[in-house]
Amino acid sequence: MVERRSVMALALALLAAALVAPCFAGDPYAYFDWDVSFITAAPLGVKQQVIAINGQFPGPIVNVTTNWNVVVNVLNDLDEPLLLTWNGIQHRKNSWQDGVQGTNCPIPSGWNWTYQFQVKDQIGSFFYFPSINFQRAAGGYGGFTVNNRDVIAVPFDKPDGDITLFIGDWYNKDYKDLRKALDNGKQLGMPDGVLMNGKGPYRYNKTLVPDGIDYETVHVHPGKTYRFRVHNVGISTSLNFRIQNHNMLLVETEGSYTVQQNYTNLDIHVGQSYSFLVTMDQNASSDYYMVASARFVNESRWARVTGVAILHYSNSKGKASGPLPDPPNDVYDKTFSMNQARSIRWNLSAGAARPNPQGSFRYGSINVSQVFVLRNKPPVVIRGTHRATLNGISYTAPATPLRLADEYKLKGVYTLDFPTRPLKGAPKVGRSLINGTYRGFMEIIFQNNDTKVQTYHVDGYAFFVVGMDYGEWTEESRGTYNKGDGVARCSTQVFPGAWTAILVSLDNVGIWNVRAQNLDTWYLGQETYIRVINPEDTNKTELPVPDNALYCGLLQKYQNEQTPHHKATSSAPLTHQVYRVLVLMVLMVAAATLP
Ligand SMILES: *[C@@H]1O[C@H](CO)[C@@H](O)[C@H](O)[C@H]1NC(C)=O
Ligand SMILES: *[C@@H]1O[C@H](CO)[C@@H](O)[C@H](O)[C@H]1NC(C)=O
Ligand SMILES: *[C@@H]1O[C@H](CO)[C@@H](O)[C@H](O)[C@H]1NC(C)=O
Ligand SMILES: *[C@@H]1O[C@H](CO)[C@@H](O)[C@H](O)[C@H]1NC(C)=O
Ligand SMILES: *[C@@H]1O[C@H](CO)[C@@H](O)[C@H](O)[C@H]1NC(C)=O
Ligand SMILES: *[C@@H]1O[C@H](CO)[C@@H](O)[C@H](O)[C@H]1NC(C)=O
Ligand SMILES: *[C@@H]1O[C@H](CO)[C@@H](O)[C@H](O)[C@H]1NC(C)=O
Ligand SMILES: *[C@@H]1O[C@H](CO)[C@@H](O)[C@H](O)[C@H]1NC(C)=O
Ligand SMILES: *[C@@H]1O[C@H](CO)[C@@H](O)[C@H](O)[C@H]1NC(C)=O
Ligand SMILES: *[C@@H]1O[C@H](CO)[C@@H](O)[C@H](O)[C@H]1NC(C)=O
Ligand SMILES: *[C@@H]1O[C@H](CO)[C@@H](O)[C@H](O)[C@H]1NC(C)=O
Repeated sequence: MVERRSVMALALALLAAALVAPCFAGDPYAYFDWDVSFITAAPLGVKQQVIAINGQFPGPIVNVTTNWNVVVNVLNDLDEPLLLTWNGIQHRKNSWQDGVQGTNCPIPSGWNWTYQFQVKDQIGSFFYFPSINFQRAAGGYGGFTVNNRDVIAVPFDKPDGDITLFIGDWYNKDYKDLRKALDNGKQLGMPDGVLMNGKGPYRYNKTLVPDGIDYETVHVHPGKTYRFRVHNVGISTSLNFRIQNHNMLLVETEGSYTVQQNYTNLDIHVGQSYSFLVTMDQNASSDYYMVASARFVNESRWARVTGVAILHYSNSKGKASGPLPDPPNDVYDKTFSMNQARSIRWNLSAGAARPNPQGSFRYGSINVSQVFVLRNKPPVVIRGTHRATLNGISYTAPATPLRLADEYKLKGVYTLDFPTRPLKGAPKVGRSLINGTYRGFMEIIFQNNDTKVQTYHVDGYAFFVVGMDYGEWTEESRGTYNKGDGVARCSTQVFPGAWTAILVSLDNVGIWNVRAQNLDTWYLGQETYIRVINPEDTNKTELPVPDNALYCGLLQKYQNEQTPHHKATSSAPLTHQVYRVLVLMVLMVAAATLP
């Protein structure tokens, strides 16, 4: 799925770094040129507007290695502003590149903007997606894989192949109509289906799946072992993922190696990423189903909301047929999914981005310096608009990004008074941030008072998931915390009527988004930011504002106009490519003439 253009650009970058630019002698650069535009597609048989990158849906996979520099020139070919965010990439000292409204001005329609950041001290499976205007419901997402450096041991043998799967619920309605519905206080209702890699289900049942739907096929060889990186990029549906007759050995989640365990199925909530090793150890009497089905719903009503792809052995003797592999049978057992989540633990002895073991960071013995209980509620009406809240506050993004407001010492853009406990009284709309203490150790308890699973995500950090349970969290709940091998990740599920506790070490200066990954809840305001400022006056703990920063809101006056250059009306990106090819040719000639 990696696009040739990017690979070429990357090859060129490496060549350039090696041959002509000793100042690049440090970490390699990977360059990407992305044209983000609408294409027409019909993943579930209904034609609609889908967001593609360089014409691809899902977008290309950024496949890089720890510490590489990533440069992505994004051309916004949509008809409205765009920002891409890099889910799980920590942007150390560099919230400027995070691509959310608190840190970046949106890229206006027809403009381009270049992200540049280093994937410092990270490994793992992540993804990117458009962060504003509900655009993720129309696509625009893709994989972000950070490979280990060769010098670092990986806790399993090198797999025979690497397969990325995006699973997610999907509506046939245009994303702009979906957001209008939310603005009008409507619920989105049951999705029309589940896509796998942008495609609809295999026709496993002629009543449920219409004819002519394009489905995903994964080609494998018998006896080989593949790494499957599975991301739930959907809107709001928790999905159960399984591969017929195959064990899935969980090895990594969102940048941490896990204790390796086999699962026959795993619940993957919105915004979460997992990698599994799957060995092709079956007899290939037929193809096998890969399934992602909706969780915690009435399965007979939601049968259509099921993604089905095909696992095809090279020696397969026929098509997959018969019923899908069973989902977990736990209608009356609400602890099944939670116990499964609790079973995902950190492999303390494995090294990740660094050679020292993950477990050498003994989070369980660090004293907590700040505690926040963040309680979500089902959507409410606040002064006539439908809003979702955390601690009684629904966030609205100011026109000026928070981080830029700080840089220019603008007052009144936000308040730094996010309550440590749910506010009593009427819910309100605000721009209230969490005041994080630099180098402090924060405990956050997410308490889900809604009726659906919510996933919460923190940008800029990996946090430790130390506990979850049904009921109300109390101080005594700390007695149940996992102080040893809770996994470090960036997105955690919080079951309805339950809580999840995380610990996070605030060592990354910047302003960082804390959000519901569920797109509807997030869109309605269920987010805030943690502001982490080094009180010492130094330029060593945060990178300066990038030269190409876009300005908007109160800082609009600093922004130079860009001549819009939609791909259809200009050849600017093409010129860029031509230039690169020319440089490549020159380099090749130079290389050929070297002794
Ligand atoms: C990603 O890059 C790694 C390391 O360069 C390479 O081994 C792997 O084959 C690449 N994966 C894909 C899917 O291209
Ligand atoms: C826009 O793209 C052009 C090349 O296509 C590049 O030279 C320029 O730096 C980009 N602008 C920004 C703000 O990234
Ligand atoms: C944990 O990591 C170590 C070190 O790489 C590895 O040898 C071991 O198999 C892993 N253990 C489990 C249970 O995954
Ligand atoms: C197909 O799905 C329908 C609706 O869920 C069900 O009634 C029917 O039994 C299924 N058909 C087969 C062949 O499984
Ligand atoms: C996982 O399942 C595979 C294949 O079914 C098996 O070979 C392997 O030993 C199992 N690994 C663990 C850790 O249970
Ligand atoms: C292949 O495996 C399937 C499922 O385990 C089994 O039903 C079937 O009999 C096997 N076929 C052969 C030829 O071994
Ligand atoms: C699920 O939905 C079906 C069809 O609407 C209904 O007959 C059944 O009673 C429902 N089951 C439960 C457990 O609510
Ligand atoms: C944590 O707090 C306890 C009690 O206040 C104190 O004795 C201990 O030294 C602290 N530990 C660290 C690592 O600061
Ligand atoms: C934020 O926290 C810092 C300590 O980390 C404190 O000095 C500062 O006064 C706090 N700011 C506000 C507005 O509460
Ligand atoms: C939400 O909170 C109310 C009031 O504390 C409680 O009665 C109710 O059970 C809670 N519901 C959920 C799903 O947590
Ligand atoms: C950081 O500050 C020092 C001392 O004020 C200055 O010499 C240096 O150029 C600054 N570095 C950057 C990257 O701004």
